Amino acid sequence: MTTFELLKNIRDDLTAGNIESAGAEAEIILAELLDSTRPNLFMLASEPVTETVQYQAETIVKRRIAGEPLQYIQGRAYFMNICLEVRPGVLIPRPETELLVERICRDAPAGGTVCDVGTGSGAIALAIAFERPDLQVTGLDISDAALEIAERNRINCKLDNVIFLKSDLLAALNNTIFDYIAANLPYISQTEYDRLPVEVKNHEPRSALFAEDNGLAIIKRAALQMAPLMNDSGQAIFEIGATQGIGLKNFLNSTGSFKNIKIIKDLNQLNRFVYCMKS
Ligand SMILES: C[S@@+](CC[C@H](N)C(=O)[O-])C[C@H]1O[C@@H](n2cnc3c(N)ncnc32)[C@H](O)[C@@H]1O
Repeated sequence: MTTFELLKNIRDDLTAGNIESAGAEAEIILAELLDSTRPNLFMLASEPVTETVQYQAETIVKRRIAGEPLQYIQGRAYFMNICLEVRPGVLIPRPETELLVERICRDAPAGGTVCDVGTGSGAIALAIAFERPDLQVTGLDISDAALEIAERNRINCKLDNVIFLKSDLLAALNNTIFDYIAANLPYISQTEYDRLPVEVKNHEPRSALFAEDNGLAIIKRAALQMAPLMNDSGQAIFEIGATQGIGLKNFLNSTGSFKNIKIIKDLNQLNRFVYCMKS
């Protein structure tokens, strides 16, 4: 069997298994098995592939069709310009979160300090530290599994301007003042959780996704701890679900601790972030 034939088989099997981006995933799977790259696959099109590679491809396709996310099968995910180890127990970073990183990298003051609460794999903290080596970044999470992976990712990315700490939201911090706080905390309500694709529900940790109070309980608790940890011109940004913008904006306003509260849309024009400054 040639590379081209195997690629076509993988794509057809994924398509039959209702995998949405079957073509792209087929290329990613085969490129990894051949220790090559997606563009390079086409140069290898008429080369024969070994039976071992065919068997490995079959095994991966079976797991994928059974609903396992490709990032967990491969053990890694790409986020901004870095590659991160991801395992069950830690959320797979989502592309929409990249907008939050871009904003912080654009606006954080030179030589400043950034906190990433609910860091998971370390995606936000590490991507910021990579893009802005002048910043000192602190990543916090309550999950030991997440912190272990975040620290391994820090080492693999060779970044020494990031530290990870175990903390229930911001509780472990004292006498630390930040220029920017990023919060991508769980924000999925029970109703939305019930409607999530099985692929997400069966594989990604519920503790990284679900929150009470229509999804806002954890974010609100973090917001209440935040102001004393922000410097006078400090900024904060929360990732939210599309229906939560007004609710969170009103809540932040009611605390009296924040000003310039704005809802920010993602590339699909959905409300995705709430931004504020310390008042
Ligand atoms: C939606 S995930 C985001 C992960 C990561 N920031 C990202 O963008 O991929 C939320 C994270 O918040 C963490 N978390 C949940 N409750 C927390 C709490 N009380 N204190 C700190 N972290 C918490 C979860 O363990 C999880 O890693």
